[in-house]
Amino acid sequence: MPVHVIVGTQWGDEGKGRVADWFAAQADVVARFAGGDNAGHTVRVGDETYKLHLVPSGVLYPNVICVLGAGMVINPVKLTEELRGLAERGIDISPDRIKIAERAHLITPAHIALDGAKEAQRGKGAIGTTKRGIGPAYTDKAARVGIRAGVMKQPDQFVEQVKARIEAANQTLAGIDGAELVDAAATASDLHDAAQFLASYLADVPLLVHRALEDDKYVVAEGAQGTLLDIDHGNYPFVTSSSPTSGGAMTGLGIGPKHVTRVTGITKAYCTRVGAGPFPTELHDENGDRLRGTGANPWDEFGTTTGRPRRCGWLDLPVLRYAARINGLTDLIITKLDILSGFDSISVAAAYSLDGETITELPTEQESFARCEPVYESVEGWQEDIMGVDTFEALPGAAQDYVGYIEEQLGLPVKLITVGPARAQTIAR
Ligand code: IMP
Repeated sequence: MPVHVIVGTQWGDEGKGRVADWFAAQADVVARFAGGDNAGHTVRVGDETYKLHLVPSGVLYPNVICVLGAGMVINPVKLTEELRGLAERGIDISPDRIKIAERAHLITPAHIALDGAKEAQRGKGAIGTTKRGIGPAYTDKAARVGIRAGVMKQPDQFVEQVKARIEAANQTLAGIDGAELVDAAATASDLHDAAQFLASYLADVPLLVHRALEDDKYVVAEGAQGTLLDIDHGNYPFVTSSSPTSGGAMTGLGIGPKHVTRVTGITKAYCTRVGAGPFPTELHDENGDRLRGTGANPWDEFGTTTGRPRRCGWLDLPVLRYAARINGLTDLIITKLDILSGFDSISVAAAYSLDGETITELPTEQESFARCEPVYESVEGWQEDIMGVDTFEALPGAAQDYVGYIEEQLGLPVKLITVGPARAQTIAR
């Protein structure tokens, strides 16, 4: 059986968690390959809502093996809290089914302090990070001074390594105006406890995934963040520090591309972004407010991890074309189509205008991208509530046309459409 990679095509928050949960129903292994607890995957099962930050969404199916890959940066205290929280809700979190790559890197209090201090130092040029220590942890990894998960087998040694990193970070923090130093002693017992708890979850993940593939198992690689947040291919520097695109699934899990038979791109029916950086179709009017919602519903556009209101705008086809290419997409899934119900007409950026020229592809220069103006096409809206619709044919004609328009523009089939947060509110084609 193949590897099925699921990636976000926009700026994250496309609904990857609930889509991974959908495929997990048939999967044997669900593996996160990049990022850390900057991600927030919301999965609704019946009346229960699960907000997952580090644990793959497959955890809600008891037969699925859940993997945290080497491409991730893991805050051990947060992961311990998340696993214990799941256990309290009756989810099986035994080490038989949850595996942490020994080569994943760990986030320490030093990284979190550095993330916050560096963001404050950037002032108006801030990236708008989630302040979870993601960037500094990947910085240490690239500088070859990071702490890898395998060391948690020796909790004392792990705590000593963290203390050494905190001392090094404190030297940097001392030079940043207003930054507070980290007290190594204050977090030592939480870190020790987390290491003791997590040690039994450590595994040789590439070998595990390889054996699963040899045994013809179905492996879902669950992306976090989105294509335009990719460290190489996103809107640098307004990106995260990992590779959330399909290539990242290979390095993050330690598998070769020959195993991948499907790469599914998740796109919201419109666009959102949290944090700073260019966003050509961003709306600053009542349409943007309407897409965002008030925050009263769990699906309104407020960050799962930080609670920040998301910037909202119309669908952007140059972004989707780009994502299709960078990831080698084989198919698309459209989420939150229900949110577009009630608009008289819906705009879609079919191209951009840049320096008097119309372009259909993303410019490579960040500075040019920031100057792109969307060239909109208008499609007919629909008034019906579609949250109860369970077949494509039962959707209003205009909603079917919207999906058909996206398929035609991208040259990709749309395989699933979601029309509400519950598992049942998914239209399969
Ligand atoms: P970091 O990953 O915390 O360093 O944040 C870098 C940028 O990526 C910021 O603009 C964040 O808002 C954004 N970001 C990181 N993770 C997510 C996510 O899961 N969803 C949406 N945006 C994210």
